[in-house]
Amino acid sequence: MIIAVDGPSGSGKSSTARGVATRLGLRYLDTGATYRAVTWSALEHGLDLDDTEAVAARARALDLGISTDPQRGHFTADGTDVTEAIRDPRISASVSKIATNLEVRAELIRRQRAIIDAAQPTGGIVVEGRDIATVVATDAELKVLLTADTDARLARRKAELAEGVTAEQLHDQIVRRDADDATVSEFQVASDGAVTIDSTHLSLEEVIDVICRLAKE
Ligand code: CDP
Repeated sequence: MIIAVDGPSGSGKSSTARGVATRLGLRYLDTGATYRAVTWSALEHGLDLDDTEAVAARARALDLGISTDPQRGHFTADGTDVTEAIRDPRISASVSKIATNLEVRAELIRRQRAIIDAAQPTGGIVVEGRDIATVVATDAELKVLLTADTDARLARRKAELAEGVTAEQLHDQIVRRDADDATVSEFQVASDGAVTIDSTHLSLEEVIDVICRLAKE
C-alpha cells in the first residue's frame, strides 16, 4: 500500500500524512526533508549552490539517515542529527535551488523509491511531497493532492514557525517558494486518479478522516 500526499507549503501535508500513517499503522516518508538535508550538507561544505555538478556529487556522497516512524521524524546527514537544522529559514530559503538540480532529483528519487520498497513488507507507507503521484510512486493506490488558499497557508506556516518570524521570512516560505517550485513541471499536477482535497476550511482531523476513508475503499 502506498498513499501519495502532494501539496504546496502550508497545505498541511506533513501533519496530514503523519496523521494518516499513524492511524492506519503505516510508515511515513517526508521527501521534502531529503531535499532539505542535501541543502544543509551543501551549505555546510561551503558549496556554491549554483555549481550543479558539485552539489549533485555532494547529494550522491551524502550518508542520509531517514526515520519512517510517523511519530518520531528523525534525520541524520553524515552522522549529524539534522532533524531541527533542516527546518531553519536559511535552509527553506535555498532548498528550491537544490530541488531544481536534476541530478540531485534523480539521486533523491532513487533513494526515496528504495525506502518505499523497503516499507512494503511492513504494510505500506504514506509518502508526502510534491511529485510523489506524478514521478516517485506513480503506482500509488491512493493519490491525494492537498491544496489550500494562500491566506490559509500563510496563517498555518506562521503558527508553525518560531516566535518572531518576520513578514519577509513568511513570504519567503510560501509565496516565493511557490514561484520557484512552479518551475519544476512535475510538481502538484493533478495526476491520473488523484483526489484533490481543498483543506482551506477543513480541520486537520477532517482531512485525515477523508483520506483514511478513501484508503479503505
Ligand atoms: O515544509 P514545506 O512543505 O514548505 O516544504 P518541504 O515539503 O519540506 O519541501 C521543501 C522543498 O523541497 C520544496 O519547496 C521543494 O523545493 C522541494 N521538494 C521537492 O523538490 N520534491 C519533493 N517531493 C518534496 C520537496
